[in-house]
Amino acid sequence: MRRTAPATLLALILAGSLPAAALEGPAPAAPGTTAPAASGKPRVVIVATGGTIAGAGADAANSATYQAAKVPVDKLIAAVPAIAGVAEVRGEQAFQIASESFTNAQLIQLAKQVSALVKRDDVDGVVVTHGTDTVEETAYFLDLVVKTDKPIVMVASMRPSTAISADGALNLLDAVVVAGARDARAKGVLLTMNDEIQAGRDSTKRVNIKPSAFFSQWGPLGMVVEGKTYWFRAPVKRHGTTSEFDIDTIDALPDVAIVYGSGNMHPEPYTTAVAGGAKAIIHAGTGNGSVAGYLVDTLKDLRQKGVQIIRSSRVGDGFVLRNAEQPDDKYDWVVAHDLNPQKAKILAAVALTKTQDSKELQRIFWEY
Ligand code: DGL
Repeated sequence: MRRTAPATLLALILAGSLPAAALEGPAPAAPGTTAPAASGKPRVVIVATGGTIAGAGADAANSATYQAAKVPVDKLIAAVPAIAGVAEVRGEQAFQIASESFTNAQLIQLAKQVSALVKRDDVDGVVVTHGTDTVEETAYFLDLVVKTDKPIVMVASMRPSTAISADGALNLLDAVVVAGARDARAKGVLLTMNDEIQAGRDSTKRVNIKPSAFFSQWGPLGMVVEGKTYWFRAPVKRHGTTSEFDIDTIDALPDVAIVYGSGNMHPEPYTTAVAGGAKAIIHAGTGNGSVAGYLVDTLKDLRQKGVQIIRSSRVGDGFVLRNAEQPDDKYDWVVAHDLNPQKAKILAAVALTKTQDSKELQRIFWEY
């Protein structure tokens, strides 16, 4: 909770704008919300990777034209003095990149860095600042492989700090509040954007310009408003300490390719991806993950060669039904359930570090 300065508080009370009770300190937490610990503040580490939240534009009117990944983590923190009232914070600069440039090696390095931090007794929560383009993949990857119940909170911004009505400062403050909130524990990796707390597993970037860019088809988990968290639901899928995956045992990820479905397709996008080393194909099919009749033999042939075929959908919401429009049992294909293609790619890569069995793969897609 952000505290009003005592002098201001007294002036407001004398002016009759506030009851004298306001001097008694924070009101007891409403059910389901967080009040700051009575003694001391949570200790939060901000790991910075770049993106627009660290971006800079030439002019305050540049809300969409700017250079991402310019401002270092200590300047990001210094630009939001209110953070000091919420938690004891220190920064680590993992990378300084635009997030479309993330590689598997950088995903693994970041996860190992976050994993080492959450193991420390003097760390209560971690914030990761990130570009919005691929924060949804990084959030899901950390959700799957970092074994902790401590809050790991992704944060980004749609406008650079130099823009009028920049969103990064409040998003960052909110992320620190959530990372230090005890009731944010064991909810998986979270994303704070635009006052909402989204599940890292579910959230996806649906708009490429405005601050309210992120959506979860099953809805946000809660909100963070003026230093308090308000929760309305919790994740049911395996993550963190309930995950069978552990970044401490992962040093590389197999290659997984996404092929976007449309009319009038050709086999080359699939066969070329496999020739380039892909161990699984995410078919971002039309509708219910549909496969054009003239492509079925190509995918069956790739499956015969040991490549996993995973049907997702180019449609944003809903989930792909197994054996509905395609005989998945007969072809030994997997369905991505409600995961969009980019999330399915992350889960497939992580799962393939443990199993090559398509039935095990399908179990993993039901459970995570
Ligand atoms: N280049 C994009 C990225 O780093 C900028 C988008 C953003 O961060 O909002 O993801």
